[in-house]
Amino acid sequence: MSTTFRTAVVRTPGGPDSIEIIDVPLVEPGPGQVRVEIAGAAVNPVDLAVAAGVFHGRGLVDQPHHTGLGWDFSGTVAAAGPGVGWAVGTRVAGLIDGFDRDFGTYAEQLIVSADDIAPVPAGLDLVAAAAVPLNSLAAAQLVDLLGDGDGRSLLVTGAAGAVGGYVLSLAQDRGWRVTGLARTQDEEFVRGLGAGFTTRATPGWDAVADGAAMQEQGMPLVRDGGLFVGVQPGAAPAEVRGITVRVVVARPDGARLAQLLEATADGRLPVRVHAVVPLDEVASAHRAVAKGGVRGRYVLTPGTAMD
Ligand SMILES: NC(=O)c1ccc[n+]([C@@H]2O[C@H](COP(=O)([O-])OP(=O)(O)OC[C@H]3O[C@@H](n4cnc5c(N)ncnc54)[C@H](OP(=O)(O)O)[C@@H]3O)[C@@H](O)[C@H]2O)c1
Repeated sequence: MSTTFRTAVVRTPGGPDSIEIIDVPLVEPGPGQVRVEIAGAAVNPVDLAVAAGVFHGRGLVDQPHHTGLGWDFSGTVAAAGPGVGWAVGTRVAGLIDGFDRDFGTYAEQLIVSADDIAPVPAGLDLVAAAAVPLNSLAAAQLVDLLGDGDGRSLLVTGAAGAVGGYVLSLAQDRGWRVTGLARTQDEEFVRGLGAGFTTRATPGWDAVADGAAMQEQGMPLVRDGGLFVGVQPGAAPAEVRGITVRVVVARPDGARLAQLLEATADGRLPVRVHAVVPLDEVASAHRAVAKGGVRGRYVLTPGTAMD
């Protein structure tokens, strides 16, 4: 077995062209950890921002050598640390968080806390499972911030996006009357999830879940005294007109993710994969996502676990 593995990083962030594939030493999991052989890692908007240096610029990244890319993953347990119950070979998915790290899920191998992974149900393939953790957990934790709807109206901006799509479903489960704001071509997707649909950003909603990261432009859509839940950590719009502003910061939660993967396998939650690309083509995947208009995730495959 190789003593190193390949991973994508940025040394000096500068967009897709600054992404490098490097070899790093393989290490064994410690107590409470597992090592996962990665099958798929989703390309999310946050990864483009990390590669562009947005979070370095905000002082949230301070790595001496390189910064890791990628937050969520699927794969198989390759090794379990002392006292960890996961069997080698189990199909799992998970999320790692935090901006300031020298490792990420754009890699062949990952050491992760055993509490932060969940089993992938038999009915869900590993490529689709890779697209679930970050955005389903972000949406579920966003809906926690919304609380019970009791029939109140909720506008979800970016409703055809990964976060927005999950919020459409999960907020209805909590009693919100949900409408999705999306592009004309997204109507079938939004209505297919049981939500109302609009292409026009009109005011008067009891709450806005801001999956499109409209930020200050989203605030006028909320009625006086309403609720706004944003998706940009550290960048909450100012509270005006009695509106309560909250911001979701997605956190790993293996138990919650297990439920979300089950709901995805059952077809109760949407999952969309736009393309599967080898890890070596990470820069071209980032360029494609940066253009916008992509529906569903690019999933990177490091090439070993899927062979
Ligand atoms: N805080 C957290 O923990 C957390 C976790 C996950 C994601 N996020 C953030 O949440 C945001 C959404 O992520 P995502 O993965 O869902 O992104 P995504 O899949 O790219 O979805 C964003 C959607 O918003 C649409 N959109 C943008 N502006 C719009 C407008 N004015 N009107 C209608 N639709 C509009 C986009 O359509 P087009 O493609 O046609 O422009 C796209 O469908 C990102 O900013 C991401 O960084 C935060």
